[in-house]
Amino acid sequence: MKKTETIYNKNADFWSRNKPLSLSDFTARDYLFKYLGKLNNLKIADIGCGEGYCSREFIKFGAKHIIGVDSSKSMIQNANKNVFKSQNETFIHADLKRNIPKEIFKCDIICAIFLFNYIDNNNMQKIFNQIALKKKKKTRFIFTLPHPIFPFIYKKKFPFSFTNNSKDYFDSSNKCFDGKIYRIDDVILPIKMYHRTFEKIFEIIRSAGFNRIIHFKELGVNKSLINKNKKFFGPLQGIPLHILIEV
Ligand SMILES: C[S@@+](CC[C@H](N)C(=O)[O-])C[C@H]1O[C@@H](n2cnc3c(N)ncnc32)[C@H](O)[C@@H]1O
Repeated sequence: MKKTETIYNKNADFWSRNKPLSLSDFTARDYLFKYLGKLNNLKIADIGCGEGYCSREFIKFGAKHIIGVDSSKSMIQNANKNVFKSQNETFIHADLKRNIPKEIFKCDIICAIFLFNYIDNNNMQKIFNQIALKKKKKTRFIFTLPHPIFPFIYKKKFPFSFTNNSKDYFDSSNKCFDGKIYRIDDVILPIKMYHRTFEKIFEIIRSAGFNRIIHFKELGVNKSLINKNKKFFGPLQGIPLHILIEV
């Protein structure tokens, strides 16, 4: 299995975008932006920021300052290239498993959009512990993940899939699956997913000291997406694809 940094350094240019392109831009990030609404004057941490697509959207929604963190040098280079207001956006190259830049704890919102599917249970727990301990009292923490059941129920390859040799939802916890997600223009983006059960996700949240699930959403394709492009979204009708949680 290839290292996460290798995958993202190699594919950084294919991730760069200024409009929805990847399947999950339509099925998860669009929901996130609507859920967050206006971000007037807020400071947002985008952990696992990639090439900064979400960061740039946060600025469009009014955010005052963005701190992005990513372990791929090429993704950070692209984030710096793609910024439109460089004084408002700071992108830091760091592996969050080893080093969580302290600036993120001062933010009003911490977002981790498809970050923790690259991080094993132990390290996810450590990062959650640090966030719960060090964030400001009113800081919101929101994260998305592939839906835990998705690799076990969707067996087609297009337009989103994981190679899951194990058929056991329970015994596969903390196993890492290689995957692919398509862009709407048919470019394929390689991805990875540490599988964890819902039980494990809630255990990590609780053990870190978060005592409330503020929002929980299971995401998939909706009718308007299918009407827009049946070939691309149609195969996923009725399939749970991702989850979004605010704690
Ligand atoms: C699926 S991409 C999502 C990027 C961005 N959040 C978005 O929504 O477009 C996952 C990102 O997490 C980053 N990542 C994975 N493991 C990481 C780690 N341990 N520390 C920092 N970034 C990490 C990868 O380099 C990659 O850019």
